[in-house]
Amino acid sequence: MNMDIIIQPIYLVSAGLFILSLMWMNHPSTARRGVFAGVVGMLAAIGGTLLLPEVHQSSFFISYRWIGLALAIGFGLGIPLAMVPLTAVPQRTALSHAFGGLAAGLVGAAEFYLSATGNRATALSAFETSALVAEVLLGFLTFTGSLMAAGKLTEIIPTRPILYRGQNAINLSMLAVAIVAGVLLVINPSWWVLFPIIIVLALTFGVMLIIPIGGADMPTVIALLNAYAGLSAVAMGFVLDNKLLIAAGALDGSSGLILSIIMCKAMNRSFANVLFGGFGQVRARAGEAEHRTAKSASAEEAAQIMEAAQNVVIVPGYGMAVAQAQHRVRELFDELTKRGVNVKFAVHPVAGRMPGHMNVLLAEAEIPYDKLVEMEEINGELPQADVALVLGANDVVNPAARHDQSSPIYGMPIIDADKAKTVFVVKRSMNPGFAGIENELFFADNTLMLFGDAKAMIGSVVQALKE
Ligand code: TAP
Repeated sequence: MNMDIIIQPIYLVSAGLFILSLMWMNHPSTARRGVFAGVVGMLAAIGGTLLLPEVHQSSFFISYRWIGLALAIGFGLGIPLAMVPLTAVPQRTALSHAFGGLAAGLVGAAEFYLSATGNRATALSAFETSALVAEVLLGFLTFTGSLMAAGKLTEIIPTRPILYRGQNAINLSMLAVAIVAGVLLVINPSWWVLFPIIIVLALTFGVMLIIPIGGADMPTVIALLNAYAGLSAVAMGFVLDNKLLIAAGALDGSSGLILSIIMCKAMNRSFANVLFGGFGQVRARAGEAEHRTAKSASAEEAAQIMEAAQNVVIVPGYGMAVAQAQHRVRELFDELTKRGVNVKFAVHPVAGRMPGHMNVLLAEAEIPYDKLVEMEEINGELPQADVALVLGANDVVNPAARHDQSSPIYGMPIIDADKAKTVFVVKRSMNPGFAGIENELFFADNTLMLFGDAKAMIGSVVQALKE
């Protein structure tokens, strides 16, 4: 029986589920459904693959025994990886991409070996060899690049950008040599020695690509590496003649690319600036800081002012995630709403350290979705707000982005928290945020600092409201 009659429809359903999954993940209210569709799609894909004749006929290398062992190892690594806290999701994602890149690279290497030793059903055609070179190049560079990204995010390796003269030229030459070696291999497959050279260059290029990028830019880079891993899977699909891999890889590649474009746009940075800009190298000009003083207030004073307000806009940021303050924020929302105060949340697209970071945290605390307002929309309302409560956010409310052309965040769209009548800023110190720069909002006449950990401070405000 031709198993394709069963396998291809399964693959089609699986690809459809992947598309639906991505679509549903676009909104918090359907995101869970999206995750579920993705899991079912992947199960269907694995099920379909297990029906392939080469698996069924079983040889020493391809058999259910090996696949079972691989699945067990995959589960063994994957389940603990899924248990990490939300703030560690960027590094967890980087590790998943590293594994994806490694898998693609190894499959490519195995196919090349089989073909070179005459053990492949058919020798690789020129097209298949080109696809294989692309697969191996992208797969192995994604592997080391993602490991480096995870290392920087966990601070196992130094997070600051490491720059030296001629760096971009060296990196691009290395990539060019690998591509030329690939072209030569396609022209003459018997020059097999070029293959390990391509692998070594790809592994090295992955490391060199990440060295000049600051730790805090890693989330954007991870989205880009996601795109590379996806493209590598597309190439693998052509080598293995597997249509589902082509479809899933294309979805992965394009969604990674779109995501990195969205992130760059929201930070007003170009790809080139992220990849070659050494952002984060110039840290706060601490010594130059003028002796301005910021006014501070107590939780009780904040509670009094918020209680008397009509409109309160809460601007969450990275600090809320670090403090895990979302449940306290929910209590504050309930207390204020009970008193007739209109409370909304202003969500900046790059608040926190990963796309949708704030949405996920606020959804976890069951804040109604209609209270989460996007930046463009809430900015029109902020001049009428009585209070803007900036909670562990910093760069995304820094007015310097609007007017200071020398600022590294100049041009980044921000939430106009400074336009509210009173601004409360909850953070632990006067330390800068991700961009490493001072925030003039903290010194504005209408700003009062609430110094402390976000969770503890919001807890105290709630307590004061209750009393
Ligand atoms: P940041 O500018 O990074 O500022 C976070 C602030 O939270 C810090 O100033 C810190 O001040 C405070 N904080 C830390 N722990 C806290 C705690 N336990 N309690 C209270 N406050 C705490 O955050 P943001 O405004 O959300 O901006 C995000 C930045 O990340 C942007 O520059 C963005 O471009 C960048 N970025 C974002 C992404 C994505 S996709 N979201 C990706 C890459 C880069 P203290 O230390 O004084 O407490």
